[in-house]
Amino acid sequence: MKDTKFYITTPIYYANAAPHIGHAYTTVAADVLTRFHKLQGEEVFFLTGMDEHGMKIQKAAEVQNKQPQEFVDGIAEIFQALWKKLNIENTNFIRTTDAAHKTAVQKVLQTLLDKGAIYKGTYEGLYCVGCEQFKNEGDLVSGKCPDHGTVPEFTKEESYMLKMTDIQAELLAKIEKNEFQIAPEKYKNEIVSFLKGQTLNDVSISRKNVAWGVPLPFDASHTTYVWVDAFLNYLTGLGWDGDEKKLPAQWPVDVNLIGKDILRVHATIWPAILIHLGIALPRMLFTHGHILSGGKKMSKTVGNVISIDDMLEKFGTDGTRYLLLSAGTFGDDVDVTMERMVEKYNSDLANGLGNLVSRVVKLCEGFEIELVRSEYDHLIWNKGFMESLWLDKAVDRIWDHLVRKSNKFIDDNKPWDLKKTDEIKFREVMGKLFSELYFIAEVLDPFMPETAAKIKTALETKKVEPLFLRIK
Ligand code: MSP
Repeated sequence: MKDTKFYITTPIYYANAAPHIGHAYTTVAADVLTRFHKLQGEEVFFLTGMDEHGMKIQKAAEVQNKQPQEFVDGIAEIFQALWKKLNIENTNFIRTTDAAHKTAVQKVLQTLLDKGAIYKGTYEGLYCVGCEQFKNEGDLVSGKCPDHGTVPEFTKEESYMLKMTDIQAELLAKIEKNEFQIAPEKYKNEIVSFLKGQTLNDVSISRKNVAWGVPLPFDASHTTYVWVDAFLNYLTGLGWDGDEKKLPAQWPVDVNLIGKDILRVHATIWPAILIHLGIALPRMLFTHGHILSGGKKMSKTVGNVISIDDMLEKFGTDGTRYLLLSAGTFGDDVDVTMERMVEKYNSDLANGLGNLVSRVVKLCEGFEIELVRSEYDHLIWNKGFMESLWLDKAVDRIWDHLVRKSNKFIDDNKPWDLKKTDEIKFREVMGKLFSELYFIAEVLDPFMPETAAKIKTALETKKVEPLFLRIK
């Protein structure tokens, strides 16, 4: 029987600073998949939200002289306003400071303790606050965290530990059999060799010196490690109360969408919690690469940060969605520059699609053109690519096979001449273009929903405003 539900998540974003282009990239991708699966008639649940506890956020609030709750409330509002601007259709927006989430986290921790999956121990090691993760010497480059460029702090403290060794073999088997599919394949290989290469250390799941967190139900002198708190959002975001015997109908996750920097934790600690609880693992953990700017990681010091607000101002909602997703292979690192994006906007959107729509609509002024729907099923056209999450290929294909081809079809057939010399041929050519444009609107809908609707209206009313204005 066909599965008619689809449950997709983004990571929950740290509420320590305003959103950036990387957050928008994942969220737009999840939104495109959401819209595509909805069009397929599936019942879709799309979860995103905020990760609001832990040392990093506690410190960020202190710097601004704010209470942590007040601080994260402000950041959560900024994120939600951005999702609105980007036309994101999330079903829920989970925040780890929600009371129901915290209660469920405590229930889970009690269950894990009762099951013998947690024990009291000591943790000694290097901790990177930026990552909110313990680090091994081998993870560092010249003694520094490669993601944050900072020297991790040495920490030694009493801590509750989650057993990893007794779930390791089961986890590896599930990954190898694609029962818990890690995609693209290169990331699966990376995790498989990591799991084969060593015995996993037990994971510290509590903090004694971080006040801003969910207190352990069995030891109030500790708060829950922020990643454990955060992972459970994928369940509590569905309204789950922490009872492992009563799972929400949407479970399991169909796609946990993440960036490559958080793959390791998502492929180890997250499934370990679920295995200990006896809960089915997500079907797929899909990892995308990072957006680089001019070949480098974006950084304020380098001065190469591309702001998502600037993009929205320049390219509009659909322009931004298009440029993010077509920036490169979804799964690999992709490199962008403002100059190249302006160029692509002008060529693909202003000259390509926008020009196509306005030419077609203007050409048929004064003529009744009947709209004959294409013989192809638009839902099947890109299905293979969409189900493999080849989002960039799916969107490029619309331009390669439809937009450019239609513009060429106009140039080749010169309907402006036919209009005067051969009305029958003219109607035939325009009819084809009409049906082609309608088809473009349909396949484009998950990527650029406003544009798709505008194209349909333009065809119906024979009136058109420029869809994309050329940027000088
Ligand atoms: N709070 C954790 C996730 C917990 S999920 C249970 C976290 N938050 S984050 O805000 O730091 O990052 C969220 C996502 O943004 C990650 O998937 C990360 O890969 C992604 N990105 C951060 N910078 C990025 C780019 N430059 N490009 C693309 N995505 C990037 O980690």
